[in-house]
Amino acid sequence: MSFELTWIGHATLALKTGGYNLLVDPFLSDNPTAILDPDSVEADYILVSHGHHDHVGDTVKIAQRTGATVISNAEICRWLTQQHIEAHGQHLGGGHTHPFGYLKLTMALHGSALPDGSYGGNPAGFLLTTNDGEKIYMAGDTGLFGDMQLIGEEGVTLAVLPIGDNYTMGPADGLRAVKMLQPDHVIPIHYNTFDLIQQDAAAWARQVRTETTAQVHLLDPGEQFIYP
Ligand code: NI
Ligand code: MN
Repeated sequence: MSFELTWIGHATLALKTGGYNLLVDPFLSDNPTAILDPDSVEADYILVSHGHHDHVGDTVKIAQRTGATVISNAEICRWLTQQHIEAHGQHLGGGHTHPFGYLKLTMALHGSALPDGSYGGNPAGFLLTTNDGEKIYMAGDTGLFGDMQLIGEEGVTLAVLPIGDNYTMGPADGLRAVKMLQPDHVIPIHYNTFDLIQQDAAAWARQVRTETTAQVHLLDPGEQFIYP
């Protein structure tokens, strides 16, 4: 068993690996597509990529109920610690061996102001190496950047990329990202939640299949990708 990843909708992921439940960017209460209840979802760890409300989401509420440790950049972790949330701060380029695997924060081209206007440091993506050596790259909210090539050099099993455009990469740059990352598998997210980020994901998947060797998995909210 390596990992099971469920797309909850928007940028929210539920990831099971090494016997731990991870939630990534748990935007549930205000998310029209979310299929999880913040009052019952399980979490051992919560990963927060940046400070925007559609990523911090229900982090505080879920962490208070479950006692989950939140992992994010140092500034967001300080903001959470002030609210008596258990948090582990890291920063861009820094990795740490957690019980569920080795997690490195990667750069992201975006903003990170917190919902109350507090400074949220720099936005991040995540590169997780599972305990059995599979690499999952979750780009977070980002524009295309050339250093995705460097991430690709690590050998990416699964890339989770935004394709909604307007706030993040759109489909064309998402395709260029796949070409740089050369993942075995790719899952698009951060689209169709709102009118501004409507995309034809099926057309994108066809183009990725034509121009790269990556296997594209189009999930509906609530659907899982199980590896292997
Ligand atoms: Ni954002
Ligand atoms: Mn976002």
